Amino acid sequence: MTEVRRTAAITGVHAWAPDNVVTNARLEQMMDTTDEWITARTGIKERRWMEEIGQATSDLAVKAVEGLLKKTGTDPMDIELLICCTATPDMAFPATANIITDKLGMNRTAGFDLSAACSGFLFGVNTAARFIESGMYKKVIVVGADKMTSIMDLQERSTAIIFGDAGGAVLLEPDTDGYGIIDGIMCSDGIGRTYLCQKAGGSLNPASAETIARKEHYIHQEGKAVFKFAVTNMAGVAEEIMERNGLTAGDVQWLVPHQANKRIIDATRERTALPEEKVMVNIQRYGNTTNASIPLCLHEWEPQLNRGDNLIFAAFGGGFTWGSLYVRWAYDGAKALNLSDVKPGQLNLIP
Ligand code: UT7
Repeated sequence: MTEVRRTAAITGVHAWAPDNVVTNARLEQMMDTTDEWITARTGIKERRWMEEIGQATSDLAVKAVEGLLKKTGTDPMDIELLICCTATPDMAFPATANIITDKLGMNRTAGFDLSAACSGFLFGVNTAARFIESGMYKKVIVVGADKMTSIMDLQERSTAIIFGDAGGAVLLEPDTDGYGIIDGIMCSDGIGRTYLCQKAGGSLNPASAETIARKEHYIHQEGKAVFKFAVTNMAGVAEEIMERNGLTAGDVQWLVPHQANKRIIDATRERTALPEEKVMVNIQRYGNTTNASIPLCLHEWEPQLNRGDNLIFAAFGGGFTWGSLYVRWAYDGAKALNLSDVKPGQLNLIP
């Protein structure tokens, strides 16, 4: 008798971004940059910034999780585990996961944060899958959220143009029909830790007047070096997961890349030989939202996703970290959203 494999299927997705749109034209007023430069080097036209005082990463996450619970008709008390993937926690501790569950009254849910920079959401889904496959949990939420503006020097043109704020979440549940997270690859190499980091505020360089004067509480990114590693590794790992699962470009319905830079996305697409129309790209509207970028894509494309679609997720981030997932989509998005007639290109757009 063949043993039935229990997998973790994504059974719902939701995302949220602040309605405050920051265009390249506004950045032109704030710093020495141009719409042409930003568009050509990154593909970004606008991003959303959370500029209200007192708002944090947990607020982005709460909006995403609230929407997810509502959409999927899930009782918050049934969620057994919530993993919050973030590079911008509300505080160093406690975990932002605990703040999210408290804000949503989920006091029976276990929670922890996962830190893997821009690969965090992908690592989080892969981790959550193991809890479900082992039989330990039946309902797990993975939320990726980042208030990147909280660690950005808003006057510094090499980073301020790239990042945006957002949150996105998925619900994972067991499946025995061959849908869900089929395979996952997670990689890291500490050689990258100096190229993309936040130098102060941790135990090595606790925050002080000096670290603030040196602006070490902001993101430090050596863009060119990060770019080179990102292109090679994100494209390489997407190709590897396809190869080891016997998938060719024709078998894959969607590539879901972390939205780091349009040029990095293009390199990944070329390496996997997928046509442009099979690649989720919304970097032009949200910029790089770090842990939220993959669920933000899934949310926008949800009406076009069908049961049985093969999806390849790919990400690269600080650390360095990178990875890929092979996901067999478990439900018809349009049906779940009660949309009777989905036209190609119709997205589940955030207002
Ligand atoms: O999310 C995962 C991790 N992050 C990434 O994957 C990001 C990877 N890196 C990148 O996306 C790119 O390196 C950037 C978008 C950050 C920068 O693009 P680049 O093509 O690598 O530019 P660069 O840093 O080499 O700068 C080229 C020139 C420099 O001027 P000089 O020295 O050639 O005179 C910069 O000073 O462009 C200048 N520059 C700008 N000019 C106008 C840098 N930023 C700007 C700007 N506007 N915003």
